[in-house]
Amino acid sequence: MPADRITAATLMAMKQRGERIACLTCYDAAFCRVLEGAGVDVLLIGDSLGMVLQGQPSTVPVTLDHMVYHTACVSRVRERALVIADMPFMRYATIERALDAAARLMGEGGAAMVKLEGGAAVLETVRRLTEFGAPVCAHLGLLPQSVHQLGGYRYQGRDDAGAAVIRADALALQQAGASMLVLECVPAELAAALSAELRIPVIGIGAGNRCDGQVLVLHDMLGLTPGRPPRFSKNFLADSGDIRAAVERYVEDVRGGSFPGPEQTLA
Ligand code: KIV
Repeated sequence: MPADRITAATLMAMKQRGERIACLTCYDAAFCRVLEGAGVDVLLIGDSLGMVLQGQPSTVPVTLDHMVYHTACVSRVRERALVIADMPFMRYATIERALDAAARLMGEGGAAMVKLEGGAAVLETVRRLTEFGAPVCAHLGLLPQSVHQLGGYRYQGRDDAGAAVIRADALALQQAGASMLVLECVPAELAAALSAELRIPVIGIGAGNRCDGQVLVLHDMLGLTPGRPPRFSKNFLADSGDIRAAVERYVEDVRGGSFPGPEQTLA
């Protein structure tokens, strides 16, 4: 492994030094080169590819084969960034399925970490994956794979009870061995409090600018997503003129704490 390759330990050290982590989703080799050239630390092969690449209505139809294919497209040319691959819907509903999915995403796909959604229901799975050498990124708040159960894409943890569940889940996931946590669409105060309380890096999306880092869906931040963009995203291409400059601007704004700003934040 190249000496300057970013690992879970690098991200932990960045958190300790107060350096914000810039993450973006990435699904192919061409964008991998651009994103790495612009200084992105973490490339997330998100199952959002179902919506932005495949035209699916949600992430639910994405299969493990799709994820392995796109993860390999990125890993093949990645030099420094940490590659994280999403475990698809229902592929971690049992520990056996999760271990099998992680083996494929890391073995064939070349991911260095896997991401899965949920709290109490996935604790044992997180424990087993990490025991067997698969670093895990947890994902709390809005869980896109549960959209049919949630009835839509809505902010989570807005009342005391909801916030308490997210906090308890976050602490339990860290205790179970998770290396990192994505917090999606939660109030900024909750995300800031959890970022301060947890030892592991907290990466926000729609969670305010007091997280340890930020992630966006690449196609959202380039203004390629049809329809109204999510309120927490921003079109960085509009002011930059070219893709590389747009991504460099995103990295700069994340590192400096100016993204997300008040207009992208739910207080
Ligand atoms: O699939 C994805 O792109 C994600 C991000 C929204 C965090 O999980």
